[in-house]
Amino acid sequence: MRFLKFFLVFVCFILPLLCQPVSAGTKKAKSIDELAARYDCSSCKECHEEIYEQWEKSMHSRSLFGTGRTAATIVTTITKGLMTWPYSGVKKPKDVKVKHFMMCAKCHLPQLAEAEDSVIQEIIKIAFMKVRTKADFHKRREILSKLNINCLICHRRNAIVHKWVDGYPEKEKGVLYGTRDVEEHEDEVYTRVKKNPIMGESILCGQCHGLGPNFEFDNPSQCASAYGSYLFNYISRGGSETCQSCHMKKFHKGHLMPAYRDIDMAKAAVEMDVDVASYPAHKLAMVEVKMTNKAGHNFPDG
Ligand code: HEC
Ligand code: HEC
Ligand code: HEC
Ligand code: HEC
Ligand code: HEC
Repeated sequence: MRFLKFFLVFVCFILPLLCQPVSAGTKKAKSIDELAARYDCSSCKECHEEIYEQWEKSMHSRSLFGTGRTAATIVTTITKGLMTWPYSGVKKPKDVKVKHFMMCAKCHLPQLAEAEDSVIQEIIKIAFMKVRTKADFHKRREILSKLNINCLICHRRNAIVHKWVDGYPEKEKGVLYGTRDVEEHEDEVYTRVKKNPIMGESILCGQCHGLGPNFEFDNPSQCASAYGSYLFNYISRGGSETCQSCHMKKFHKGHLMPAYRDIDMAKAAVEMDVDVASYPAHKLAMVEVKMTNKAGHNFPDG
């Protein structure tokens, strides 16, 4: 009996204390600000100013807000989706947990996996906020944009896809992954850059730009599928460019990574052939328009 009591005290109270230092390093973030601080990339601006400014204007810098449509769709995913599905466990917005929202966050905010449920609750509060004035709109955008896909996502957290081959970024302190090795990188925290074999490969983008339904979830979601159509409808027909070569290099727009909102990209998207044949005797004209998709995938997407 005495032994059992000691055993219970040990298991319930002492063991967790002993284990704490091990788990302390991987403690989950409790607030938007805490998660944002963990992925703070403001130091990069000082030396990579142009890249930083391009990124700031990109959709990646506001991946929970988008053009406003993303924030709006997060709300409908909860009200018209999760809350209406009988087995989701969600009856009201307060019931939404990280595990529910990963069906969007897998790509819109992968680091949410390192947050407690209080963070998704904070996100929901802002996403559901009533927008009455322009100031409200900006406030909502500003808070939701604190969390995004930044330098530390592409150059660290999500840089490696084949972890058994190339390693686990989360276990390598102070390391970034780039197009080449930099033994002494000048950043105070990230003091080394390792060459990443997939930095210039489409698969880096493909992990978020989708293949179709995300079957790993209890309830698969589907949003972006550009990588699927790139592989099966472009590469399979002999296409040879990468996401990076069309979206970063072709028009030298780098980290802006633009799509159709950019005039050069929009022009590059379609080739038009117009043939006009007129038959005056019959008062007829025949116009033949041939449009060819020159992008590396179907569009629209997402
Ligand atoms: C104090 C200046 C400084 C800061 C701060 C800094 N960098 Fe750098 N970074 C450099 C310099 C200089 C190089 C080129 C080093 C070389 O060629 O030897 C470089 C190289 C890199 C490379 C490798 C280039 C390649 O071809 O892939 C990456 C990636 C990178 N930095 C990312 C970052 C990120 C992300 C941050 C913020 C966390 C950051 N840097 C902060 C100065 C800085
Ligand atoms: C497989 C990764 C992935 C998942 C999962 C995902 N998205 Fe997306 N989503 C993207 C990417 C990448 C884009 C942008 C590129 C594009 O248009 O394809 C996008 C675009 C969007 C857009 C259009 C943005 C705009 O302003 O035009 C909305 C809205 C959106 N997502 C909402 C959601 C919601 C809500 C969920 C969860 C139910 C979700 N997404 C799940 C990757 C994903
Ligand atoms: C959406 C993913 C993504 C994000 C976000 C991102 N990068 Fe990159 N970055 C890349 C890719 C891909 C390349 C390699 C392009 C190539 O050469 O094929 C690259 C290349 C670089 C390079 C070396 C090439 C060059 O142009 O000098 C530096 C330095 C760099 N990034 C810094 C940053 C910094 C700083 C940030 C944050 C402001 C950032 N990156 C955000 C994907 C990203
Ligand atoms: C961590 C996930 C992730 C990675 C990695 C990623 N993206 Fe994205 N990307 C997104 C999401 C999410 C959006 C949409 C944000 C929104 O509008 O809500 C997006 C948007 C875009 C857009 C649409 C921009 C626009 O103006 O409509 C392009 C183009 C794009 N990404 C290209 C790339 C390329 C090229 C790479 C690889 C170098 C890449 N992305 C890597 C998640 C990712
Ligand atoms: C051969 C060049 C080319 C390649 C390769 C390419 N793209 Fe595109 N992409 C374009 C052009 C041009 C557009 C603009 C078309 C449009 O949306 O009107 C575009 C549009 C997009 C959009 C916006 C689509 C929409 O309608 O919302 C996304 C997102 C995107 N690309 C991501 C990617 C990703 C990820 C890859 C790699 C898997 C990739 N692209 C490969 C040329 C390319």
